[in-house]
Amino acid sequence: MPTIIKNPMVFDETYIPPQLHVRDKEAEFLLKRYMMKLSTNTSSSDITLIYGSIGRVGIGKTTLAKYVGNKLKEFAYTRGINFAVAYVNLYTVPSILEILTVLASQVAPKLSVRGSSPLEALKAIVDTLYRRDLYLLVILDEFQQLIKSPRVDEEQLYILLRIHEQVPSPDNTSRINYLLVAQDFTVLSYLKEKLPQVESQIGLRLHLKPYTTEELYTILEQRAQQGLYPGVWDPDLLWTIAEFYGVDGNGRPEGSARKAIIALRIAAETAEAMGEHRITEEHVRFALSQDAVANINEAQLRSLQKHELLLLLAVAMLSRDKKSYATTGEVREKYEYLARIYGENPRGHTQFNLYMRKLDAIGLIEAKPSGKGMRGRTTLLRLAPEIPAQHLVELLEKILMS
Ligand SMILES: Nc1ncnc2c1ncn2[C@@H]1O[C@H](COP(=O)(O)OP(=O)(O)OP(=O)(O)O)[C@@H](O)[C@H]1O
Ligand SMILES: [Mg+2]
Repeated sequence: MPTIIKNPMVFDETYIPPQLHVRDKEAEFLLKRYMMKLSTNTSSSDITLIYGSIGRVGIGKTTLAKYVGNKLKEFAYTRGINFAVAYVNLYTVPSILEILTVLASQVAPKLSVRGSSPLEALKAIVDTLYRRDLYLLVILDEFQQLIKSPRVDEEQLYILLRIHEQVPSPDNTSRINYLLVAQDFTVLSYLKEKLPQVESQIGLRLHLKPYTTEELYTILEQRAQQGLYPGVWDPDLLWTIAEFYGVDGNGRPEGSARKAIIALRIAAETAEAMGEHRITEEHVRFALSQDAVANINEAQLRSLQKHELLLLLAVAMLSRDKKSYATTGEVREKYEYLARIYGENPRGHTQFNLYMRKLDAIGLIEAKPSGKGMRGRTTLLRLAPEIPAQHLVELLEKILMS
């Protein structure tokens, strides 16, 4: 019988609270803007950009965007407006057609854009929106990845973001609006350089700053109320965590809500595991000392493909067990074994190497040549050293099972 944690879902990385108590003004502002778009038909799309502060993660960019999407759905529903949200995480730099596939799936379950050109796919989407009188909000998260990537076809990206011009709807009403989410303002210079017409079309730019102690307290209090049993937590403990991470505090002033929430979760889980009936200072101290755990971004992991996750799991397990580098051969063997366990056909060498290079490029694993002393030359792999291996293994197993 759990005595501390009432609802573990509340502490999930992807959980979006039903109300925002912090960033509520920003949310309100965005909502008004899009509600207007839904109520009055216009011929051009709205593009809004949410961007963070350099080097700051976990400050609510994704949450704000998704929350606005959720609230708009509620609003549209009460007004009898057909409305859908398509959320795409661009972290792994999908192709334009991959992005369009996600949009198509939100527009109509049976709408398939496989084998189409991007322009044909867009036409099919615009056409279906028109026929169903459906409005679509497209959230493009980690947008900087796409615009900064040399692999991306700017022409296609242009067509996607200027869809109302390229593929006008028969009634000349634009039913697609965009909410771009980016790490920091540098995305704007890339946009200006690569897609100046899109940059100038951005109607609103919202800059999010790291959270203060007070803001973090408010966020933590909401989670505690929703996720913990009453009487097991004490406001003082929440203040300890908030002060530790608040940008104006003196612990790790990163202003990250993600880290603060993870610390609360770990403190609660520790109390639970020890069979105690209250969270104490000791549990919080332990949680804060586990900070490294917070470096894992679950949303990013979820945006990886299944075989990339399997390969990462193989590396994580080997790093955990060997405590040093593994050879590509060892990783490959483990990966093939895991693939079969999860009911997948292991991919061939070429594909395997591509996954490996991608995970290296993202910074989740580290690859280095074996150098002298080993038979033949191979690449050695390990998990990036700041990632706690056991925690990642558990997280990956959870994602692969879901
Ligand atoms: N204003 C808020 N109210 C409640 N919870 C919040 C708020 N801001 C952030 N959080 C929570 O903090 C965690 C991190 O937030 P989020 O993922 O939105 O950050 P981010 O800025 O997108 O991070 P990243 O740069 O890594 O993408 C999530 O669990 C989220 O629910
Ligand atoms: Mg995010």
